[in-house]
Amino acid sequence: MPVTIVLGSQWGDEGKGKIVDLLAENCEYVARYQGGANAGHTIKLPDGREFVLHLIPSGIFHPGVFCIIGNGVVIDPVALREEIKMVEDAGVEVKGRLFISYNAHLIMPYHKQIDKASEARLSKSGDGKAVGTTGRGIGPAYEDKFARKGIRIVDLLDRNLLAEKLRQNIFEKNELLSKFYDSKDLCDVEQIIRDYEVFDQEMDPYITDTSLLLNKAIAEGKNVLLEGAQAALLDIDFGTYPYVTSSSPTAGGACTGLGIPPTSIDKVIGVVKAYSTRVGNGPFPTELLDSTGEGLRKAGREYGATTGRPRRCGWLDAVAVRYAVMINGIESIALTKLDVLSDMPEIKICTKYERVTDGKIIEHFTTNLKTLGAIRPIYESFSGWKKSELEGISKREDLPGNVKIYLDAIERELGAPLNIISIGAGRNETLVEQSLVGSL
Ligand code: GDP
Ligand code: IMO
Ligand code: MG
Repeated sequence: MPVTIVLGSQWGDEGKGKIVDLLAENCEYVARYQGGANAGHTIKLPDGREFVLHLIPSGIFHPGVFCIIGNGVVIDPVALREEIKMVEDAGVEVKGRLFISYNAHLIMPYHKQIDKASEARLSKSGDGKAVGTTGRGIGPAYEDKFARKGIRIVDLLDRNLLAEKLRQNIFEKNELLSKFYDSKDLCDVEQIIRDYEVFDQEMDPYITDTSLLLNKAIAEGKNVLLEGAQAALLDIDFGTYPYVTSSSPTAGGACTGLGIPPTSIDKVIGVVKAYSTRVGNGPFPTELLDSTGEGLRKAGREYGATTGRPRRCGWLDAVAVRYAVMINGIESIALTKLDVLSDMPEIKICTKYERVTDGKIIEHFTTNLKTLGAIRPIYESFSGWKKSELEGISKREDLPGNVKIYLDAIERELGAPLNIISIGAGRNETLVEQSLVGSL
């Protein structure tokens, strides 16, 4: 029985939440493997209610599904507490269904403070441009993890050790905040110890050895979805560094972020938006800074699910997505927000780049910012279709001719089949190839 990774193939917000929620119907487990509350995964239930999940896996709205937050995730207990409450208030059982790795690292208040202070400094000083982070403390928390100073959930079990570790960390962070960032807002060790002791009690029922749990489930042949947050082009190694997040959203991150072997992965589904968006700074070759970009933002309601920031919009960049297909081994694509392109007179796909200095054609994506800053996209143009033409359609074969031409071109450019086509935020606004569901 398959273990399937569902991950973002662009710069995030492709609609991973919708696709994971949709596929979770046929699964027993959904596990998040990296990132933190920087993610915002939107789910629209059949009754019209909409929820944005930041940490809880997108399978939680299916009562029979167990949800796992893996060791690769950085957990902000404040955000998690709010989210558990939101889901419970919606009438959904969380206890007994949510499991959190005791090896996951915790986001502390000082991580969020340092994230914001660092961004403010980068925007002001001439040192370079800010990344445009979500301010959720993600970078500083992963810094501590890799510097072997982080506080893990398991550390909450030993109060004395926790207090000692926190004192050491807070001494260092307060020095950084006051002396380097010139901040007056310093951390109070005793207050943080008290707060995290309360979180410990609240989180206790959820904490377990999730690697063991998941490996057992896989051995028993359960259907498991591994949910990526962020996306390939925001990956710390493969993204447009330094304009990236601080984790590994790409397929390899699923193994290290959950403690399961690469040999257990059966399938990788890449979620691809029918156009491109990006929140925050960094290269974006197909960005449209004109009224067409504005039109996409409006039609696609492209405002951040976590921060509310307007998302930068542009045409589908097949060069960038081909790269995501390659590094993740994507064999199946879930194309989302196709409906948003309706009623546009002309639709474009970037199939190659051209170097502006000498006209050299570039067919392979690069994360070299200098190269990316000196290319222009080469587009293929397609005729549009009317929104009304998509109404009531449940099979790809029944789509209007112009849509089919556009979809065939995407498959040709990306070299992977579009097994899921999403034409609305709801679960049933989706054309799913039955062979895919059957194999889940
Ligand atoms: P994620 O971070 O990848 O889960 O994506 P987000 O939730 O941040 O952003 C995707 C947005 O598009 C959400 O508001 C979804 O409800 C919405 N959405 C998902 N699929 C579709 C679709 O096919 N059509 C439309 N119009 N909206 C969609
Ligand atoms: P989902 O899972 C889109 C972006 C931020 C910023 C960069 C680094 O909903 O697709 P961070 O706070 O992670 O240090 O910010 O990454 N970013 C996202 N963009 N969707 C996300 O998550 C994102 N999570 C982080 O805007 O550019
Ligand atoms: Mg999102």
